[in-house]
Amino acid sequence: MNAVGVAQPRIEGRDKVTGAARYAADVPVPGLAFGAVVLATVSRGRVRDINVSAVQDMPGVLGVIDHRNAPRLDPKAGGFFGPDGQLQLLQDEVIPFAGRPVALVVAETLELAQAAAEALPVTYDEEPHDTVFTADHPAGRPAATLFDEPVNVGDVEAELAAASVVIDERYRTPEEHCSAMEPHSATAWWEGERLEAIDSNQGPFTVAVTLATLFSLSPDQVHIRTEHVGGGFGSKGLCGPQLILAAMAGRLFGRPVRVTLTRAQVFLATAMRPATDQLIRIGADADGRLRAIWHEPAFEISTLAEYIEGCTELTKTLYAARAIRTRLTAVPLDILPPYSMRGPGAAPGSFALESAMDELAERLGMDPLELRLRNEPVAGPVSGLPFSSRNLVACLREGARRFGWDTRDHRPRLRREGALLVGTGLAASSFSAGAFPSSATITAETDGTFTVAIGATDLGTGARTALTAIAADALKVGTERIRLRISDSGLGPVWSAGGSRGTTSWAWAITEAAEKLRGQGYGGTVTADTTRSLGDLPSRERHAYSAVFAEVTVDPVTGEVRVRRLLGMFAAGRVVNPLMARSQVIGGMIGGLSMALHEEGLRDPVSGRHVNADFAGYHIAAHADVPDIEADFVPDYEPGIPMGVKGVGEIGNVGTAAAIANAVWHATGVRQRSLPIRLDRVL
Ligand code: MOS
Repeated sequence: MNAVGVAQPRIEGRDKVTGAARYAADVPVPGLAFGAVVLATVSRGRVRDINVSAVQDMPGVLGVIDHRNAPRLDPKAGGFFGPDGQLQLLQDEVIPFAGRPVALVVAETLELAQAAAEALPVTYDEEPHDTVFTADHPAGRPAATLFDEPVNVGDVEAELAAASVVIDERYRTPEEHCSAMEPHSATAWWEGERLEAIDSNQGPFTVAVTLATLFSLSPDQVHIRTEHVGGGFGSKGLCGPQLILAAMAGRLFGRPVRVTLTRAQVFLATAMRPATDQLIRIGADADGRLRAIWHEPAFEISTLAEYIEGCTELTKTLYAARAIRTRLTAVPLDILPPYSMRGPGAAPGSFALESAMDELAERLGMDPLELRLRNEPVAGPVSGLPFSSRNLVACLREGARRFGWDTRDHRPRLRREGALLVGTGLAASSFSAGAFPSSATITAETDGTFTVAIGATDLGTGARTALTAIAADALKVGTERIRLRISDSGLGPVWSAGGSRGTTSWAWAITEAAEKLRGQGYGGTVTADTTRSLGDLPSRERHAYSAVFAEVTVDPVTGEVRVRRLLGMFAAGRVVNPLMARSQVIGGMIGGLSMALHEEGLRDPVSGRHVNADFAGYHIAAHADVPDIEADFVPDYEPGIPMGVKGVGEIGNVGTAAAIANAVWHATGVRQRSLPIRLDRVL
């Protein structure tokens, strides 16, 4: 009878494989013009001149927008981290990083706009730039403390001094790019003082609020739709440059304008993960019990906007230790503003922590699995709060059983198969769970169906299908009676598809609305707003958990690493749809593999410009990189959240890179403290 918990294929799957599903750049709009973006090619300085007359008379060109004629924007506009300078496009001649939009060329067709954009002469007065990140950079300062605040519990120095074994190492991760399959695209037009837009983003409501502030409108004057989204990975969480520029052009040219970033522009002008450089010190007794964990990551940000790469989140919750100290340092540089990407903070942070734990196991002569089991905490090691539900041990034990961990000889460089070295590794991980205020409206229709309206977004993850099941169970009817409306800013305030909190936040609102509707005899229309009910949630440590196991082969002649097996066991609350939850965590694990072996945004230190802003130079793991991958869920339930859901958005990504790095050490005896694990780092 229940729909939640049953494997169901995507509702829109057929539309997607037959090409009927429309993404932002596919939706037909009458009278459409096209904008092509021109990006700055210097890393710091000022625009000296943009010679608009050189392209004004090219065929089909309608005009050029730059800082001289662009509509003025409200400088207070921002998002999660407060006012955000990266939204202030075309407001002055200042170039804060290479890749900053300097102009939009608008023409009758996409091709004419792109040809004119390429022909547009832009000259600059260059200024010295600083784009090279180091942990001890003089500009470094304490990171903002919106979350992942510094902690200092116990006496870290004394515990390290008393420890039998101390690990003291640095771990580095590079810039990485979200690289969603669908490039960012927006189409915008004005109906009087109302702004209409179709945009590829992770949350039309939050994007509409930002856009309204930018253009000094009230939120109900802005209407954004999203339909299908071809992935976001964090880079579509913000009000993107494509949308701001399309809205400007729509106003200036009095017709709908579509702005689609090229693949290179997605790399150069949308959010990336910042490079990190993380100090970790861990001290333990000879029996493996942790005395101290000291984790001090530094990461880069831009001079334009605040951002927190919360690398120490796991450090505060994964293991019991007498003393824990964390501190985040942000280093502002003249670079593309970093933002959340695939398990933000947790993914690079867990690479450092879980690599260091493996080094500790080696030094202790201990099974890395046993080391983790021995340090299982009974309450939050820093917060002291009880765990809402914590099934990490179940993940570790069941994963080890399925993987065949018990036969492992823990000494490195012992297994060979022909010419190849073989090794295995594991990592534990967590990702915080929770929900944010959201609203949903349910209408009982006269034909016996229910229209469930919520401003949720389906990034390709299966949110539509999951929410249909949740609504059906909440209303105690079959899924065939649910008509789900999502992807529209007009459907009310709602949390975005991000932070692994989409399903939990939306399920909460839908469940409350359904209860109200049932309470009034299944008639009429009800709206629920969870702002108050969320406040009643007791304080707990809430996390999803995983244990990831990897087996790699390494060619000792070429240094080539191949991941042969990946196995993830997850404790992620109640699983709404086993088929899609498995797909989501497998996708996350492939992202982790990609992080371990391939992904690295490279910048030329002289020009400060990205040199691999394409899929030829920036490799993402493909099917051929992933021969055997297995993922499953242990029984788990989140007691604080309706339906018991924790969210599977990002937990799959976290931990995988460390499991692979640890396996490479096991195969070769060479520690991998910098990602990606390139050939030159293996030999
Ligand atoms: Mo995600 S990195 O919360 O979009």
